[in-house]
Amino acid sequence: MNRLLIKHARVVDPSQRLDEGLDILIVDGKVARLGERLEDKDASVLDAAGLVAAPGFIDIHAHLREPGFEYKETIASGVAAAVAGGFTAVCCMANTQPVNDCAAVTELIRSRAAAADLAHVYPIGAVSKGLAGEELAEFGEMVQTGAVAFSDDGKPVHNSYLMRRALEYAQLFDVPVIDHCEDLDLVAKGVMHEGAVSTRLGLRAIPSAAEDAMVARDIVLAELTGGHVHIAHLSTKGAMEMVRTAKARGLLVSCEVTPHHLALSDQAVADSDFDTNTKVNPPLRSADHAEALIHGVMDGLVDCLATDHAPHHADEKAQEYDVAPFGMVGLETALPVTYDLLVLKRKLPLRLWIQLWSTNPARLLKLPGGTLKPGSPADITLLHLDRTAVVIPEKFRSLSRNTPFGGRRLRGWPAATIVGGRVVWQRERR
Ligand code: DOR
Repeated sequence: MNRLLIKHARVVDPSQRLDEGLDILIVDGKVARLGERLEDKDASVLDAAGLVAAPGFIDIHAHLREPGFEYKETIASGVAAAVAGGFTAVCCMANTQPVNDCAAVTELIRSRAAAADLAHVYPIGAVSKGLAGEELAEFGEMVQTGAVAFSDDGKPVHNSYLMRRALEYAQLFDVPVIDHCEDLDLVAKGVMHEGAVSTRLGLRAIPSAAEDAMVARDIVLAELTGGHVHIAHLSTKGAMEMVRTAKARGLLVSCEVTPHHLALSDQAVADSDFDTNTKVNPPLRSADHAEALIHGVMDGLVDCLATDHAPHHADEKAQEYDVAPFGMVGLETALPVTYDLLVLKRKLPLRLWIQLWSTNPARLLKLPGGTLKPGSPADITLLHLDRTAVVIPEKFRSLSRNTPFGGRRLRGWPAATIVGGRVVWQRERR
C-alpha cells in the first residue's frame, strides 16, 4: 500500500469549512484521515510546516495545443506547466488540429495525458464540427470518452439556432456549454479594447458591446432551453451585470474570470510599448471593467477563476501588434497573480480564493476533487503563501513564454503539487 503523511499543514478546505493545523494521511491515492499528530510508521512523511494544504487547484480553461500545434505546447509540457503552477487538473479546449470534435481526438488527448502522468486532463469537446459553427459535433461519443463540457472557445457559437440546439443537446449529458462570447461583426478587425487608450495608440479596437451582445443572447437562450451556459473569460462590467440578473432569476448561467482581466488593463498595451504579450481575446479592458470583475469576485457572482492558458511561439508573438496571435500563458503565474491581487490587496478571504480555484470548478464541471474529505482523491495543492518571487518566463515548464507578467514581483506561490497521493512537483527549498 502506498502511504504518504503530510505533517503540520494549515489545512484550508472550503468544502468542509475547515481552516486548521492538521496532518493528512493518504493511503492508495485517497485521503484516508485528517487529524492532529497522526502517526503512520509505513508512510513517507512530507513536512508541510509553514504551508497551506488546499484541495487540488483545477483550471477549467487551458489550451494544451496537442494535436496539431506541438511547437506551442504539448500535453506533456502543458501538464508539466500545470503542476509547476500548483494545478492538479486542467480542462483543455478543443481548438486543436484536428479539432476535438469526435471520440478519436478526445481519446488521443486522454492517452497522451495518461502517458505524461502528471496532472489530470479533462478534455472539452467542440460544440460544432471543425469549430465551423454549422453542425453540432458528436456530443454523445465524446462524453463517453471523457469530455466534460462543450465549447468552440477561441470562437463564439455565432449561429443562435445552433447555440439553442447545443444547449438542448448538452442537457442530455448534464454538461454545460461554455461560450466564448463576442459578436464578430462588432469585433470587426479589432486587436485591443475600444476606448481612450486604443484611440491614442491608433489601434483597431473591440468594443465591450461585442461581448455584452453575445452574453445577452446566451442568457436569453439559457432561459429558452433550460440549459446551462457558462461564460468563458468574462471581461466586461455589462456582462457581469447581466450574469448578476440572470442568476437572481434562477437561470443556469455561470461564469469564470481570468487572472489577466482582473490584474491588468488596456493601459498595459501602451505601457509595454505594444508588447504583443498583452494581446489577448477578449482584450484587456479599461480599469473600470477590471474593477467590476474584482467586485464580481468579491460578491460571489463569479463561479471560478480560470487561466485561459494560450501558448504561442515567440516567433508568432514577434510580429506587429495587428497580426500577432491573441493569447497568453497563465498556468505558471495564475496563483501568485490572483493571490497577490485578491487576497493581499483586496482582502478576499483565503478560503474564498481557494474555493474559486478548487471546490467551485470541481462542482461546476462535476469533476473528482475539490475537497479533502476522507475517501476523496488525494489531489492537493501545497501553498507557500509567504513566498515572494519574481516571474521569470525563461524558467517556465511551458514550451511558450508569452506572458505579460515577466519581471513582476508577486507573493503567494505553490510549494508542491500532489496528484493521486503522489508528489508530482515540488519547489526546491533553498
Ligand atoms: O487570447 C485567446 N487565445 N483567447 C481565446 O479565446 C483563444 C486563445 C487561443 O487559442 O490562442
